[in-house]
Amino acid sequence: MKIPSVKGFRDVLPGESARWAALEGRARDVFAAYNFHEIRLPIVERTELFRRSIGETTDIVEKEMYTFTDRDGTSLTLRPEGTASAVRAYVESALYQSETVSKLFYFGPMFRRERPQRGRLRQFYQIGVEVFGRDDAAADAEVLTLLYDLLHAFGIDGAEVQVNSLGCRDCRPAYRAALVEWGRKHLSALCEDCRRRLDQNPLRLLDCKNPSCIALRDSAPRMSEYWCDACRAHHGRVLELLRAVGLEPHQQPYMVRGLDYYCRTAFEVLASGLGAQNAVGGGGRYDGLVRDLGGPDVAGVGFALGVERLAMLLGESPTVTASPEFIVLPIGERAEAVAATLARRWRLSGARIELEPSGKSLKSQMRRADKLGGRYALILGDDELAADALSVRDLEARCDYPRAVRLEAPLAELRATLDEIKLTSAERHA
Ligand code: HAM
Repeated sequence: MKIPSVKGFRDVLPGESARWAALEGRARDVFAAYNFHEIRLPIVERTELFRRSIGETTDIVEKEMYTFTDRDGTSLTLRPEGTASAVRAYVESALYQSETVSKLFYFGPMFRRERPQRGRLRQFYQIGVEVFGRDDAAADAEVLTLLYDLLHAFGIDGAEVQVNSLGCRDCRPAYRAALVEWGRKHLSALCEDCRRRLDQNPLRLLDCKNPSCIALRDSAPRMSEYWCDACRAHHGRVLELLRAVGLEPHQQPYMVRGLDYYCRTAFEVLASGLGAQNAVGGGGRYDGLVRDLGGPDVAGVGFALGVERLAMLLGESPTVTASPEFIVLPIGERAEAVAATLARRWRLSGARIELEPSGKSLKSQMRRADKLGGRYALILGDDELAADALSVRDLEARCDYPRAVRLEAPLAELRATLDEIKLTSAERHA
């Protein structure tokens, strides 16, 4: 009986996983250049963590979390994002006691029970960063610059970065009141979710995906008209610092993000070519969150990129599954044990080696070796065992080598012998 995978959960097969590893490698280089350090976080957290950070009236918490009761009665949730976990870890390990600023990055799967479609999965992967301990505009500008440089390192230069400021504890209440008033006037045009959320969390109206709510948005009051002086100055400085390094994000006055913890700077990365799911990444500042989750009053700012969406933007090619350097072909049972010893010796020295089973004919072994795409087949049968040496076939040049390689040869000697033979045969042909 075939057991299929779960809807919205998928495999990342070799080829695609090699492309992902390449992305991750490039991201690591950029993170190192910006002096960020990796944090590895658990996939399961207490449900309360996400309720209190992402917000009770967000789509994620209301509809999309994978929540279950553990055997001891604790409510647990598969993480829908990484920021809440990073903050929990930061508070729990009291990182703030050993360093005033922490710059962290993470890779990993997140879980949201959304309706699956192209670029939208129930298990998806994020590359994320979080900076703790910096409340100045230069930190937002640096995080945004890092975002641009990451995209550039991936080869994505056409994405649009949109920014907004969501104000702070001081100026948000007046804006909320204005939004509620505006929403009441347009109650009949709002979707059911927005009507319900109007009093509790009116900012969600601006993030609603319902077409009638989207159509209404342009008539909503703008946050920028309600910014306090400190928020206005902060936002102006972020833009000024970005301009100084040659970056000009697009200002989007109604962008609020789908999570409640943001204050001041918020941003999204949009790319065409992804269809309806056009957000590749998003992030922003979340200054009250560390304190709300039981830590000191430490500021935070960060973002996350969706790996599946990045991969979609980059397209299929080139596939980069590595081929083995050597394929060891034992013929017969006696050769099999010796071949295993040789393969192990060369593998421990760092060569990529495929060791074939011994039960097949040399002809079918060679066919398989050709398919594997290796450079050299090393053949070990009774004759070779008697001579204490391996026969070599060059799979690329499709010819047998006139000289054998002794069984005792360490990897360096094996490679050097093959190079030598290659050279002499090249000279012969010259
Ligand atoms: P987010 O905007 O919810 O932010 O997610 C970031 C990115 O994850 C999205 O832009 C998208 O590329 C990807 N993503 C989200 N949901 C899905 C899905 N169902 N399928 C595929 N990809 C998806 C956050 O998660 C924040 N924690 C970002 C952040 C970090 N803010 C501050 N620090």
